[in-house]
Amino acid sequence: MEDNRSKILSEVRGMVPALSGKMNGENLVYLDNAATTQKPIQVLDFLCDAMVHSNANVHRSMYELSDKSTTLYEEAREKVRVFINAPGRENIIFTSGTTTSINLVADTFCRCLGPGDEILIEGDSHHSNIVPWQLAAERNGAVVRVIPTDVMLGRGRSGRVAFEMLDQMLSNRVKILALTHISNITGLVNPVGEIIAKAHAKGIPVLVDGAQGIVHEKVDVQAMDCDFYAFSAHKIYGATGVGILYGKTELLEKMPPYMGGGDMVETVTYGKTTYAPLPLKFEAGTPNFIGAASLKPALEFAEYLRDGEVGRALKEEEGRIVSFMTEALASDPDVEVYGTASGTGLKKTPIFTFNIKGVNAGDLAQLLDKMGVAVRSGLMCAEPLINSFGANSALRASFAPYNTLEEAQVFIKCLQRAKNMLL
Ligand SMILES: Cc1ncc(COP(=O)(O)O)c(C=O)c1O
Repeated sequence: MEDNRSKILSEVRGMVPALSGKMNGENLVYLDNAATTQKPIQVLDFLCDAMVHSNANVHRSMYELSDKSTTLYEEAREKVRVFINAPGRENIIFTSGTTTSINLVADTFCRCLGPGDEILIEGDSHHSNIVPWQLAAERNGAVVRVIPTDVMLGRGRSGRVAFEMLDQMLSNRVKILALTHISNITGLVNPVGEIIAKAHAKGIPVLVDGAQGIVHEKVDVQAMDCDFYAFSAHKIYGATGVGILYGKTELLEKMPPYMGGGDMVETVTYGKTTYAPLPLKFEAGTPNFIGAASLKPALEFAEYLRDGEVGRALKEEEGRIVSFMTEALASDPDVEVYGTASGTGLKKTPIFTFNIKGVNAGDLAQLLDKMGVAVRSGLMCAEPLINSFGANSALRASFAPYNTLEEAQVFIKCLQRAKNMLL
């Protein structure tokens, strides 16, 4: 059994060259996966090969190289469609990241909002799922309201969003609900399916920020019934600068274009322009076509990590990591964890954000860096949530399916060493 576990883990890790690298002369322990993931060799080879053998602009030219490039771009779109079980290619829009995907919806969907209308968001939101809505609200006089967490309500310390308040908050003034699938701070999986059903019962469309959800959960947008689902390629082993927006056809059809430019038009005159059909209506200008095309090998790698014998072994390993980390952090009375599943009925993914009393998170991160451990410190683009825990910065260790229990153990040892140096 142990042999099989090590065989699978070393096979998986062997496919991701960065994981056997060094940092400050020490073996790298990369635990900043919620920020971005390391890339498997299939993606690296693909990017290099595409730059050499199929680098031509997409959707524009009549020559073979351009056809090849367009084919790779559209094959990636089809791969994304199947990966999230979207009904058609028109539902998959390539953007430059989760942030752009959410801005696209906030800007274009919210143009019909007016004074008195409400946009509902969650207390565990990333800045990318807060600020675009504030900008939209400022433009049209609407109001952004927040479903608080138990901490914000003074009813607990888990960081769980108080969804029991939904019945009261989902009034007929609410025009859109923006959810977080998995918080990049607490690692808690929100029951998005149930919440979407409640919102739909009142005719309210729902956007889901899936930047972390796409990595840790199997996503089926039709089963979830979300109206929009946003995520980034770089967090799921693909290239940076590429995002995905899934949207339901009837909503995307009604929304005006987000940006104007080449490729998103049908005909242009100085008097009037008509727009290309979906999805190109929302893809103005030259897209990051090679980066987007890398989603095909990236999502194949994600499937390899998720499914079959490898998937089962990595899920078990993830379970061991979550238990080990939860116990190790809870056993230190100086540690305060932001995001605990116990008693919430929610699932916890391997994202751990915390502080050690009396120790600056940035100082800890710097010492850990010298020991070869890469973790994030600061506000992690979730200032209201971090502040709600009474902190103005924190340390975050976030694991991907290719991380091991041994790495979690090294992390905890190094953390203790760093803490002893600083206290
Ligand atoms: C929950 C969540 N939403 C949105 C984002 C923004 O993603 P990107 O910077 O790739 O646009 C992140 C990135 O950390 C995230 O964790």
